This record gives sequence, structure tokens and C-alpha cells, in this order.
Amino acid sequence: MNNTSNKPFFITTPIYYVNGRPHIGHAYTTVAADTLARFKKLQGEEVFFSTGTDEHGMKIQKKAEEEGKNPAEFTDEIAAQFKDLWKKLNIDYTKFIRTTDPRHKQAVQKVLQALYDSGAIYKGSYEGLYCVGCEQFKVADDLIDGKCPDHNSVPEYMKEEAYLMKMTVLQKDLIERIESDALHIAPKKYKAEMLSFLKGETLQDVSISRKNVSWGIPLPFDETQTTYVWADAFLNYLTVLGWDGDAQSVPAQWPADVQFIGKDILRVHATIWPAILMHLGILTPKLLFTHGHILSGGKKMSKTLGNAIAIDEMLEKFGTDGTRYLLLSAGTFGDDVDLTMERMTEKYNADLANGLGNLVSRVLKLSEKLSEPQAMNSEQQAGISGELARLIDEFRFAEALQHIWNGIREANKYIDETKPWELVETDKAQFEQVMTHLLQSLALAAVALEPFLPETSEKIAKAIKERKVEPLFARIK
Ligand code: MSP
Repeated sequence: MNNTSNKPFFITTPIYYVNGRPHIGHAYTTVAADTLARFKKLQGEEVFFSTGTDEHGMKIQKKAEEEGKNPAEFTDEIAAQFKDLWKKLNIDYTKFIRTTDPRHKQAVQKVLQALYDSGAIYKGSYEGLYCVGCEQFKVADDLIDGKCPDHNSVPEYMKEEAYLMKMTVLQKDLIERIESDALHIAPKKYKAEMLSFLKGETLQDVSISRKNVSWGIPLPFDETQTTYVWADAFLNYLTVLGWDGDAQSVPAQWPADVQFIGKDILRVHATIWPAILMHLGILTPKLLFTHGHILSGGKKMSKTLGNAIAIDEMLEKFGTDGTRYLLLSAGTFGDDVDLTMERMTEKYNADLANGLGNLVSRVLKLSEKLSEPQAMNSEQQAGISGELARLIDEFRFAEALQHIWNGIREANKYIDETKPWELVETDKAQFEQVMTHLLQSLALAAVALEPFLPETSEKIAKAIKERKVEPLFARIK
């Protein structure tokens, strides 16, 4: 996955709907993307890392109405909550895009006009079941007991005049791209799932406009209709780079090197999104990396079950780096992972307060007895190499953390075995040697931790320099 060209490494998260407060699922993708972005930067690569908010469509229009607010005011409030959460989680994005940004809207209109002029979009009508929660048309196969399984609600029946984008004509090309990994879908099981979907049925042309949704971008060639929210949203991945919608001049960062998405939005990302690009003659993204969902106590989080884990509560209890650690160590990034507050508290105490926190305070306390300060500057430039780099490059964040924690455990064991507090009295030379080794291990751990726990990494590096013990993680109940 290394860049061979000089193009900046471009990472995207989905843009999140602003129909409610940001939640743990949003945080999960964004923390993972931030970790990869920080890792790439540490390796000396130029990185463009984008995130943002998806602000149009029926779902948001309805929600604003329920709250008695106009949609513009409502979306401003929630977009601010996302920015605030990313600050608290120490997300170092390059740019935050909002689809209500006038420049984004103009670019979307330019694209639609071009697609209409080329015949890729044509006037027709659409009839089918529509799930407002997903903002997607559904077929019988997508439903369980007549309900959308993701939103546990019965989709609405819709029939309206609409503008459609041609899909059927692209199907063969799309399959070839996915099969050959020109459009790489990972992990493998999701690639297989998409290929079996694409080979199993004929792709229907898709409606890219809505007649009865006023909260959207008007079609430039028919102002009585607004742009379908997904067509609007996908283009963020280009407009975030400052693109004005001209297919002849695409920003240098494109194609995206990694687009992170959750499994529930894989199908649209592997069909409608590449279709728009293919119609425009623009390269499709290099990789769609699909992650699973966070479950709470083995179940899907839901209001009815009252089992949702609030991201604010996590931040309050575990702090920024504690939350980042617990999200990324929860399990394999491509699979569903299960969390409970109890288990996270145990893990926080074991790995952060006891494991890492203990190591740092022991080493620094002991190093007070060192006669000469050690030179510790070379590690910072070394970056992350070998096995750990490979794991992060393959999005195996939980294993990467395990790898780092093996080192932490070893270092703690090394202290127990070498007993430097005795050596300082009995064998000064040996003491210096043991401590040099420990301080070096700590400095390396600080570098390795940077993408995951940036604040902690900085604190450790500073503590080594200043030889000051500062508690990192206090035990919690
Ligand atoms: N606005 C669209 C995306 C448009 S991208 C061009 C959207 N937004 S969303 O806010 O509903 O969800 C965004 C992401 O959050 C998805 O990738 C989804 O998988 C993720 N998650 C939502 N709930 C989740 C969990 N419980 N666990 C992990 N991620 C989950 O879809």
C-alpha cells in the first residue's frame, strides 16, 4: 500500500449525517483513519486526511422539522458537535467538508450538468421501497420481515418522476475493476460479497434526484428536483480537495489511497460512487476498506434496548487516549467488535494504568539515580519499522497495539528480573546499562504509540527528556 508516485497519500472517512449527536460508530472510523494518517506522516509521507458532514436529504429535513428548527440552523449546530468531538479525540484532519458549503454545491451542480449533457443521466421515473434511515431504495431481498434490518423500520413506498443515472452499462467494467483490485475492496470477505452481489443481478439504473425533498441541491437542469443525497455526498471526496467539478482537472491527491467505510455503506460505495466517476472518466479510488460494527454486550446498539455506549461518557471516563486505545484494541478492524463499559474499564486499568503507566513511572523513578543523562534523540527520527509498520499498513490496528504491549510487558518483566533498585547499590556499571536499555525501549515505545495515543506519546518523550515522573493514567473504578 505504499505510494510509488509522489502524490500525497489521501485518506477519507465517510461524511456523517447530521441528524443527531455524533456517536461511537462515527468515532470508531475517524480514530482509525486518524491513526493511519498519523502513521503515514511519521513515515515521512505527505498526507491529506478528510472528514466532514453529510447535511442534505429527507432524513435531516425531517429531523430539523421535528426539532422546530430550520435545516440550516440545525445542521450548523450538529456539524459543530462533530468538530468538537474530533477535537476531543485529537483527530488531526487536513480538511473538514460540509455538503452545505457553497463551493461543494456548485461543484455538484457542475457534475450533474455534465452527466446530463453526456446522456449518463436521463429523465424517467422511479418506483420502489425507500428507507429514510438509509436514504436508499430497497428491494425485497434487503428486508427482514418487511423491515430494513439496519433501522428496524418498514420502508416507505415511493413512486415519482426522477432523473436516473445509467448503471447497467457499467456493470461489466465495475466487476472487472473489483476483480482485478483496480478498485480494491478489503477485507477479502467484503470483496467477495460485492462480487457475488454484482454477478448475481442486473444493476438497475439509479435515481439521482428527489421531487419532494426541498433540503438538497437543486438540479441545474430541472430546479423542481433536488440531488439525491448520496450523489451529493460522494462528491465530497473530491470537493474536499478544492475540486470545482470539472472532470478535466482533478486535484493531484486523487485517487484516494484509502476510503474507510462501515459495512452498511459498502454497497453504495462499490456501485453508485464508482459509477459517477466512471461516467466522468475519473479514476476510481484505490481502496475501499470496510470495517464492521461496534456492538454493545453482543447486541446492536439501539435506543429501544438502551444499550448504546455514549462516546461522551467514554471520553469522560477514559480520556482522549484511553478512548482511542479502547476503540482500536476492541478487535479486528474488519469484523464486528463487542464492547461493554465493564470490560473496557478492566482493560484500561490493566493495559494503560498498570501496564504502560507503571512502566513509565518505574523507569523514570529509577532513572533519577542515573549519574549521566543518556542521549535519546535518534529514536524519534527512526519512525516505525518492521512488523509493527506492516500491521498498521494492513489496518490490523488491534494486533499492532498488541505488538506494542508485548514490548511493554517485556520491559516490565525486565525490570523485575534485573532489579535495578538493587543494582544501583551493588553494580553501578550494570545499573547504567540496564537503565540505558529501559530508557531506549521507552523512547521507542513513545514513537510507536504516536499514531495511536498521540498525547501519551508526547508526554513520554517529554518525561524522558526532563526526567520527570508524571502519572499517565490513573486507575479507575
Ligand atoms: N452520510 C452517510 C455516508 C456518506 S459518505 C459519502 C452515512 N452516514 S452515517 O452517519 O450514518 O454513518 C457513517 C458511518 O458510521 C458508516 O461508515 C457506518 O458504518 C458507521 N457506523 C454507524 N454505526 C456504527 C457502529 N455501531 N459501529 C461502527 N460503525 C458504525 O452513512
